[in-house]
Amino acid sequence: MRESGAAFFTSLTLHSLAMAFVVGINLAIAFRLVGFAPKLPIAPLTRFYPLHWYCAVLILVSGLALLLAYPAKALTNEVFYLKLTALSIGLLISKRFQYTLSNLPEDEPVQNDHKQLAYLSLVVWATTICAGRFLAYTHNVLLASRFY
Ligand code: HEM
Repeated sequence: MRESGAAFFTSLTLHSLAMAFVVGINLAIAFRLVGFAPKLPIAPLTRFYPLHWYCAVLILVSGLALLLAYPAKALTNEVFYLKLTALSIGLLISKRFQYTLSNLPEDEPVQNDHKQLAYLSLVVWATTICAGRFLAYTHNVLLASRFY
């Protein structure tokens, strides 16, 4: 993974493309729940979740490939654990929204707990993206040995 530039950059590209779908779908639903585009029905938005979960698997696979390239670099960096915590909270909220919003009647107002979860979703996905980007600048170790 480290020696072959093509392998590393293909993983990084897949990682970025897949996160565009995962984070994009979560942000669109969260912005709708906090009040943007009030005329847009909410339940049909949940039809994007199957694509969201496919891309989540792609992010995990490409993320593990990037991790394999420089395991010590990420595993010794607190920012990496902040990122994994934020994205785990984000995916738990996605699961909750997928089940509770898919049958929401069009004229039903957004419940308060959904609105609060949507604000939290906006914060955790912004944190995940920023932490992911800063991984490259915040590491103390690049390689712990000749191999990893
Ligand atoms: C939805 C979830 C995720 C998002 C939004 C995300 C976001 C990001 C971003 C923005 C970058 C920087 C890309 C760049 O340099 O152009 C990145 C890099 C990275 N991500 Fe993720 N990521 C996610 C999941 C994961 C997972 C699950 C893992 C590992 C199991 C992971 C491991 C990494 C690694 C190792 C890097 C490379 C850091 C470096 O430059 O050394 N990511 N991620």
